[in-house]
Amino acid sequence: MSKILVTGGTGYVGSHTIVDLLEAGYEVISIDNYVNSDSKSLQSIKEITDKNIHNYEVDLCDLQALEEVFKQNPDIVGIIHFAALKSVGDSVADPVLYFRNNVVGLINLVDCTLKYKVEHFIFSSSCTVYGNTKELPVTESTPEQEAESPYGRTKQIGEKILKDAFKNSNTKCIALRYFNPAGAHISNKLGESPVNKALNLVPVITETAIGKRDKMSVFGKDYDTRDGSCIRDYIHIMDLADAHTKAISYLIENKQSTNFDTYNLGIGDGVSVLEAINAFEKVSGQKLNYSLGDRREGDVIAIYADYTKAKTNLGWIPKYGINEIMDTAWKWEQARSS
Ligand code: WQD
Repeated sequence: MSKILVTGGTGYVGSHTIVDLLEAGYEVISIDNYVNSDSKSLQSIKEITDKNIHNYEVDLCDLQALEEVFKQNPDIVGIIHFAALKSVGDSVADPVLYFRNNVVGLINLVDCTLKYKVEHFIFSSSCTVYGNTKELPVTESTPEQEAESPYGRTKQIGEKILKDAFKNSNTKCIALRYFNPAGAHISNKLGESPVNKALNLVPVITETAIGKRDKMSVFGKDYDTRDGSCIRDYIHIMDLADAHTKAISYLIENKQSTNFDTYNLGIGDGVSVLEAINAFEKVSGQKLNYSLGDRREGDVIAIYADYTKAKTNLGWIPKYGINEIMDTAWKWEQARSS
């Protein structure tokens, strides 16, 4: 079985992707320093797949410790790199922390990838590389605008580092540009469980509904959209995980001719904040306590994907929409709060 190194393996996207990789027959090891996750994800992976995953508790900024993992695992065939800080709002508050963690960590990982001759590399990128584009839906050739946050800038810089670093090497790389990951595993054994305070819309909705928060605020009611609230492309975490398995398999099967390529991972449905709240209320039968508040710095007004390239090349077709996202997220919130 091909061994895949997953960095950030106990995190939200990482843990769901490990489940999908295992179910596709891959062997997996993880690196995670638990900065925004915990080892409970490994137990959940075990419950779902009956497989134990070894996690190396290593900070990617510690090159010596990172290199040790490669020395102990000379049979790593591919790497899927999730480990990064990812809050748009937090990155505005502390940009240097984001550049050190996300960019220095990536550079160390690229160093090891080349030194230990790993030939397949998947990078967790983001639709934030497009900035506040007017061209919707976005395709992979939509010109990048100035990123709206330091978080988005670390993803723009990350893609450029990978493109230059792997040029003229034997390593091939795909950058997957996520739109808005949300929802939980269909088994209800795994979901978003951030150690830090949840900031993304869907966990804020479920935490408000279950009573962990008294009320939530809609950040902006006067945008130039159909109902005045921001529009996003919410992608179910299980569809996102499936795309990673398809992308690493595409590289291992030597189907990519170039050393670097990018793919959008969104489902092409633009959903506004108010529409997302309405979907939650319909699916859960819960009335949500929210107010229409001020805009949040760093937000783009609207963005959603054209995923034709992922469908054509990777054979990726998303199965779920906003209703399944809200249903699985609500069931997960109830399970983890019981
Ligand atoms: C969504 C919408 C908010 C909270 C995310 C990830 C980022 C990247 C891009 C992958 C916005 C509104 C939110 C609240 C609200 N994904 N909102 N009240 O900012 O689009 O970024 O997708 O790389 O990692 O964070 O996601 O969920 O924070 O916001 O009104 O309490 O919900 O203004 O319009 P965002 P988000």
